[in-house]
Amino acid sequence: MSQADSNINHTKATNRQSVNTGKNNMDKNNLATPNYTPQLKAFCEVIESRRSVRRFTDTPIPDDVLAECLRLAMLAPNSSNLQPWEFYVIDSADNRKRAIKNCMNQNAAKTSARLIAVVARTDIWHDHAQQVLREYPDKPVPKKVKDNYTKVVAADFLRGPVNAISVVKWGATQVARRLKGPIKSPYYTFEDVKNWATNNTALAAENLMLALRAHGFDSCPMGGFDEPAMKKLLGLGDDHHVVMMIGAGERADNGVYNTQFRFDQDQFVHYV
Ligand SMILES: Cc1cc2nc3c(=O)[nH]c(=O)nc-3n(C[C@H](O)[C@H](O)[C@H](O)COP(=O)(O)O)c2cc1C
Repeated sequence: MSQADSNINHTKATNRQSVNTGKNNMDKNNLATPNYTPQLKAFCEVIESRRSVRRFTDTPIPDDVLAECLRLAMLAPNSSNLQPWEFYVIDSADNRKRAIKNCMNQNAAKTSARLIAVVARTDIWHDHAQQVLREYPDKPVPKKVKDNYTKVVAADFLRGPVNAISVVKWGATQVARRLKGPIKSPYYTFEDVKNWATNNTALAAENLMLALRAHGFDSCPMGGFDEPAMKKLLGLGDDHHVVMMIGAGERADNGVYNTQFRFDQDQFVHYV
């Protein structure tokens, strides 16, 4: 077991406390600053010790731990707080068997304690815009917020039959750009909305994997699965997209297949 692993397992009990109270017991005054070393150290340990684990032990992930990890997943940043994600925890023996087959019988699925389909929704923006207004914490809901979730969001997402509204939106955007300067493009096509929903959902998926790690568990994201078969199994329609499958559990000794490496930062980071 690596030092990072043992530190994370060591802090499990503390983490479980915050699960039980449902509250984060961190002192607000100690929120991350570059020089608050213990928190930064813990953060680095979680990130650096996360690996894609392909073999798990028989140890189950307790329901309350999984629920807490999913709560943390859903704290991911997301566009206009529209939360276009869903998580299907595939627990029933029959569904699991079929889901594992749909994951091409990968060990990460076969040996997982929990198998989760992370799903992006392209149809939910309208309902969620209304839900944001219903559940908005500040009452009365400020006019600016109301306008955003009624007018701006609708203008962003509405496409009309055969993208007819999108054609008008495209023209209006070109004109506005010329007259006013920079303007964010709205979504013109189904692919645009799918991309939007997938971006948001992938951030939640990463949060979920890091939360599992912080609780001493591990995960493997899987893109290697039969999406139509998985959607059929889960009863999902055309507006649901399985972004990735996540196998999760306790890391087995032979769970990590290779040494982690990344290319040099210079190859990817551009200071412009
Ligand atoms: C979108 C995505 C799809 C992936 N699909 C698979 C998969 O089907 N099977 C698998 O074993 N690993 C899969 N991985 C894991 C990657 O192989 C792994 O993240 C990469 O090799 C880096 O290793 P690390 O995660 O341990 O740092 C996937 C990762 C991502 C982000």
